[in-house]
Amino acid sequence: MEPLTGFKIDNVSINPPLVLAPMAGITHLPFRRLVRKYGPPGLVFTEMLSAKTLPGESFDRPGFIQCHRDEHPIAYQIFASNPHDAEAATRKICEGPADFVDLNLACPAPEISKKRKAGAYLLENLSIVGEILSAMKSVSTLPLTVKIRLGKVADRGFLQELASVLNDNDVTAVTIHPRVTGEKLKRLSRWEYIGYMKSLMNVPVIGNGDVQTRDDCFRMFEETGCDGVMIGRAAVRKPWIFSEISGTPPEVDKEFLLNVYRDAFFLFSAYFEERRFLGRMKEFTWYFSKNMKFGHHFASMIQNADSAEQIDRIIKDNFSGSC
Ligand SMILES: Cc1cc2nc3c(=O)[nH]c(=O)nc-3n(C[C@H](O)[C@H](O)[C@H](O)COP(=O)(O)O)c2cc1C
Repeated sequence: MEPLTGFKIDNVSINPPLVLAPMAGITHLPFRRLVRKYGPPGLVFTEMLSAKTLPGESFDRPGFIQCHRDEHPIAYQIFASNPHDAEAATRKICEGPADFVDLNLACPAPEISKKRKAGAYLLENLSIVGEILSAMKSVSTLPLTVKIRLGKVADRGFLQELASVLNDNDVTAVTIHPRVTGEKLKRLSRWEYIGYMKSLMNVPVIGNGDVQTRDDCFRMFEETGCDGVMIGRAAVRKPWIFSEISGTPPEVDKEFLLNVYRDAFFLFSAYFEERRFLGRMKEFTWYFSKNMKFGHHFASMIQNADSAEQIDRIIKDNFSGSC
């Protein structure tokens, strides 16, 4: 396999050309630090942030928009239903440490798409996409990027129209997760649309969907011609996946798994107050426990814990035996 070569979004170097996906409830600051420690990717994303409430958040306190100095480059992703909120959120993000502002045109979850008329819902009306991007551009001092799904149905004509809205609004990179909006993550994504999007855009295209291994990643580069590869769920299960892909895989044994899980415990518990810590640790464990022989049993013990102390005890008493 050829070594990976980085690429640039605007003037920012993305090297290696591997990207940690935005994932709500998962890609918070301590998780991103965990991945940077064992990875590292060339770019990380925040979880999606509500454009409506983001301007009231603080960069100086633990929360959704804080980032650590070692996390660059980092894209802050917003979801918005109208130009006014998107503009205010972009203005706020540009006051902070972000390298990119990303607009979510991908999320099909009912509470985002149906209820708030944001995320993938916006793909139903390309003129509002243009208005939102234009509002963001009018105040942004940072490069704008977007993350898209295919739309309601897989249709090349629609992608052509979308690409022209994105090109017209000086979007500097596009991530494409090639599933139609109604599709669950279980069904395989349609990589052929990544290459097609690449043929339509004047700027880098990042492919996303179902990359689980180094081989998958190289296959996505080869089959689609994308500039970068974004990884979501596999990076939660294996926070070291980016070093595996870059050709320096760690030796994954019981002791290594315990070290990674303990690091997650310490990073998360030092950052979040206990209630939020519990939620985040349970979500992470759901994915991470798939590395363990008796992971299901271990994860259900963690799901039932109601304090950090209890989780600490479960790790001490049960982690190694569950591997
Ligand atoms: C728990 C979870 C939360 C997600 N949250 C977001 C999000 O906040 N913004 C977004 O654009 N995509 C979100 N996604 C979609 C991922 O970014 C990615 O597109 C999807 O998981 C497919 O990539 P994968 O096969 O590498 O996991 C989320 C996915 C999961 C599993």
